[in-house]
Amino acid sequence: MQWTPPLDPRQYDLLPLLARQNRTADWLNTDDGDPYGLPNVARWSVHQAAKIVPFRFRSATAQRPEIHTWIDNLATEAIAEQQRRKAPVASINRGPSLLLLGPTGVGKTHEAYGAVRELAITGIVARWTVVTAADLYAQLQPRHGIDSEAEFQRYSKASILLVDDLGAGGKISEFTEGINFRLINHRYENQLPTLITSNVLPKDLSARLGDRVTSRLVEMCQRVPITGHDRRRGEAA
Ligand SMILES: Nc1ncnc2c1ncn2[C@@H]1O[C@H](COP(=O)(O)OP(=O)(O)OP(=O)(O)O)[C@@H](O)[C@H]1O
Ligand SMILES: [Mg+2]
Repeated sequence: MQWTPPLDPRQYDLLPLLARQNRTADWLNTDDGDPYGLPNVARWSVHQAAKIVPFRFRSATAQRPEIHTWIDNLATEAIAEQQRRKAPVASINRGPSLLLLGPTGVGKTHEAYGAVRELAITGIVARWTVVTAADLYAQLQPRHGIDSEAEFQRYSKASILLVDDLGAGGKISEFTEGINFRLINHRYENQLPTLITSNVLPKDLSARLGDRVTSRLVEMCQRVPITGHDRRRGEAA
């Protein structure tokens, strides 16, 4: 683990995230020379998270209690596993998944990136892979010179994966159905933590994603309905 110099928590809008974990900016910038200590891992993780969080969501803070609980549970499991293995740092490798469901513009992606940022400041290593479902299908289209199976495994085997907008877009094709099944099935069988957002109504999940994908999602994920108005259109919409 690389030694990471102190950082200004205001620059990354970390103060609300720290407060939720009953931690302070002083804790984050603890200079105890221990590269494996929670504060150094947290500083390192803040930089890693900033690389994958899109600019629009750079200050996102998750509001939903289910997200905080999910993060706390993942962190607890990671610490227990670290102690069993006597590993120098705790890392997220296995655990439950979360499915954020709600209509367009209610803040699902905001909540998801809020989770990425919040996990960063726990001091637990979370090696996220993030992708929108549409980009995933585009990247996995068989192309000359691209090993799409290796590319697929980058997602299926990711230690923690965010799939944004599963089930959005046009009619599902045999190709996208196959990707969805292989991806979800692998993550289901190996209990790999996955954060999924979707604007498909709960009653339409089976029709949209197929019974076999939906059945696995129901077992592996806690479903979190996100309600409200389309924030992009403002309060009046
Ligand atoms: N809790 C929040 N506080 C402030 N802004 C928010 C919050 N949640 C969402 N927003 C803003 O509202 C807009 C829509 O949010 P977001 O993109 O997360 O919606 P979504 O549910 O993912 O929509 P879609 O289904 O179209 O992908 C964005 O500009 C986002 O930054
Ligand atoms: Mg979204």
